[in-house]
Amino acid sequence: MTATWAAPGRINLIGEHVDYNEGLVLPFALSMATTASVTANDSGVVTVTSDTADEPATFSVDVQPGDVTGWAAYVAGVVWAVREKIDQPAEGAGDPAGGISGLEVTIRSDVPVGAGLSSSAALECSVACAINAELGLGLDRVTIAALARRAENDFVGVPTGSMDQLASMLCEEGHALFLDCRTMQTRAVPFDPDHADLTLLVIDTHAEHELAGSEYGDRRTSCEEAASRLGLDSLRDATLDQVTSLSDPVLLRRARHVVTEIHRVSDVVQRLEAAGQTAEIGGLLTASHQSLRDDFEVSCEELDVAVSSALLAGALGARMTGGGFGGCAIALCPSAAAGAVKQSVRAAYDEHGWREPTIWAASPARGAASVEPDPG
Ligand code: GLA
Repeated sequence: MTATWAAPGRINLIGEHVDYNEGLVLPFALSMATTASVTANDSGVVTVTSDTADEPATFSVDVQPGDVTGWAAYVAGVVWAVREKIDQPAEGAGDPAGGISGLEVTIRSDVPVGAGLSSSAALECSVACAINAELGLGLDRVTIAALARRAENDFVGVPTGSMDQLASMLCEEGHALFLDCRTMQTRAVPFDPDHADLTLLVIDTHAEHELAGSEYGDRRTSCEEAASRLGLDSLRDATLDQVTSLSDPVLLRRARHVVTEIHRVSDVVQRLEAAGQTAEIGGLLTASHQSLRDDFEVSCEELDVAVSSALLAGALGARMTGGGFGGCAIALCPSAAAGAVKQSVRAAYDEHGWREPTIWAASPARGAASVEPDPG
C-alpha cells in the first residue's frame, strides 16, 4: 500500500514572533502544499525522492540527529521523531501499532522555499501524516504537529515555535486558526476576504537575508531575558506598564512588541467574529508591521517598501508575515484597488532596481488532507 498526504504552507495574518512567548497567533493555510507519498518496506532504509532535488536521499531507519543535513534532514527528522514516539508509547496505550522497517518516500511541492510561507512545516507534516496513515499509527493531528515541530527543533536544529506545524495540521478552508500557544486551544475564525469585496495580496519580495537564522534565536533569547527580569515565566503574562519599566532599551522594545502584538491579535479576532468588520482589521495589520520594524527589528528594506507602496495605493493594511528579514508581506485591499496596489509595489521595486516581486491573491485553504496519489 501507499499513503499520500498533502500539507499546506501558511500565511500568518497576525501574531508575529509571539508563538514562542506563549502568545496568540492567527495563521491561515495557503492552497500551496507539499505532497508526500509513503510506501512501507523491509529494507531497513528510508529513500526519499523530491521533485526539487537531483538525487534521492537515503538514510537508515534508525537515523539520529546530525546524520543527515540539507533538505532531507526535515524528512529524516520526522522519521526519527515518529520512531521515538512509537518506541515509547504513552502508558496504558498498549503496543505500538507498527515500527518503521523501511520506507520509500516521494515528495513534490509548490510551496516556495525560503519565502517565509512555512515550506518546512508543510514538508514535515505531509511526511508525518503519510507515515501515520501508511503504518496505521492512529496519531491525532495535534500529536503529528508536535512530532513535526520536534523534527525541526531537535533534529534540524531550528528553534521555531509551534505555530507553523499546527497551522498546517489544523487550518480550515475559509477560516484563520486562532491559536493560544499557552493552552494550545484553537478556534476556527471566519476569514473570507472575497465575501467582503476584499483581496488579501501576498507579496513575495524574494529577499533572503543571511541574518534570518541567527537573529531568530537572538530574539527568542531577548524575550526570555526580558521575562526573567520581570520575574515572569513568559512575556504572555507581562503588561505594558511592566515592560516599559525595563531599564534595558533593547529588551524594552522587544517585550513591547510581544505585549502589543498579543493585544492586536485579540482585536483582530474580535473584529473578524463580529460580522462585517473584516475591512477594519487593516489598521491593526499595519500597526503590527510598525512594531515588527521598530521594536522587534525583524523587517528589512524590501518588506518596508512593499508595505509602504501597498498602503500608498489604497491597501487598508499591510505587514510583513513570518520570521522576517525577507520573505513575504501581505496587503489587505478593497478588491477594486488590488490592481493599483500590485502596480504600485512593482513600480517601487523597479525604482530600487530590485527583482520583480511575485504577487498573488490568497484565500484560506484547508489543512493537511489525504489525497489520491499523482498518477504521473
Ligand atoms: C517562523 C517560526 C514560527 C514563528 C514565526 C514568527 O515562521 O517558524 O514558529 O515564530 O517565525 O512569528
